[in-house]
Amino acid sequence: MSHKITVEKVAKSRIGEIDFTNLPFGKYFSDHMFVADYYDGDWHDAKIIPFGDFTLHPATSAIHYGQALFEGMKAELDPDGNPIVFRPLKNWNRLNISATRLAMPTIPEDLFMNALDKLITLDRQWIPSEPLSSLYIRPFMFATEKYVGIRVAEHYKFAIFTCPVGAYYTKPVKVFVSEKYVRAAPGGVGYAKAAGNYGAAMMPTQEAQKMGFDQLLWLDGIHHKYFQEIGTMNIFFVIDGVLVTPGLDQGTILDGVTRDSVIRLAEDEGYIVQERDVSVDEVINAYHEGKLEDMFGCGTAAVLSHIGAFHYKGEDYELPNWEEREISNKLKKRLTAIKSGKAEDIFGWNHTVPVGVYVNQ
Ligand SMILES: Cc1ncc(COP(=O)(O)O)c(C=O)c1O
Repeated sequence: MSHKITVEKVAKSRIGEIDFTNLPFGKYFSDHMFVADYYDGDWHDAKIIPFGDFTLHPATSAIHYGQALFEGMKAELDPDGNPIVFRPLKNWNRLNISATRLAMPTIPEDLFMNALDKLITLDRQWIPSEPLSSLYIRPFMFATEKYVGIRVAEHYKFAIFTCPVGAYYTKPVKVFVSEKYVRAAPGGVGYAKAAGNYGAAMMPTQEAQKMGFDQLLWLDGIHHKYFQEIGTMNIFFVIDGVLVTPGLDQGTILDGVTRDSVIRLAEDEGYIVQERDVSVDEVINAYHEGKLEDMFGCGTAAVLSHIGAFHYKGEDYELPNWEEREISNKLKKRLTAIKSGKAEDIFGWNHTVPVGVYVNQ
């Protein structure tokens, strides 16, 4: 079924209020948002409207029972000024994987892509052109059924808003390896971008931040021995010239779009990449042998962020100066250039928003 999207434009843009040379992450919201409602087994009332509040019934089931998920991707302007979105179909696919795990409805590809194209076309002035800045795109879905009682909801809202953003981390991050708390376990929801995963990580992350760390580095939920991911990023190690990153086979970590991009770029550059279990012992041994050359996180918001140090069982392990880390800097440079249309997109990752998308309804 095709889904018609109606458009109601803002009477007056707020863009003049934004200082594009100083963009904190996630604080400013573009003029419009996309919204659609699910009922009677399909998506209805798809529309782009002025960005604004939702009103919620107190029994809105997502608030009580957690059927809520989100996605995150970015748009930039290519050197000719055309808006490009990085790998949106991978985010669309992951959104539907998350939705399926949470017994929520999936979003048809045409609805997702049309909504994206129209929204970006309408708010294209909000795409920053300053270095390291981009338009962050936040699709999300939640159960809207007005019902108390635990069962799969029949009503949902899907929405997309966008935010002009600057860099997420501005210096190498210090991470705390959590021995006490667990983010995910096999059979759980670790691979889904479920809102609840982030709620559950708040308190452990806050504890680490009170101790002076930026983020948690999670270990596996069974052995508390194998690295998983960082709160906001997938993790990579460079051990003796080889890139190592935890595998997706247990279903406990997010299948990051940036992770996949880094793997494919690294292989294209001729590096060996291993997706496998990587234990704390292995990394600490490599550290003592002088073979731990690099650790970095990667994600849409943070792109590729070097780890400055990690903390485990009372010890701080300092990593080499980030500027001297050849592999990750090379990959970061190439990824950043591809995302902004400045390097050849050999994998066909960028989606160019088609010129002339009809938004005048
Ligand atoms: C827990 C977690 N892991 C990894 C990532 C990186 O995923 P992606 O590269 O798709 O943004 C994110 C951010 O989205 C995240 O929240």
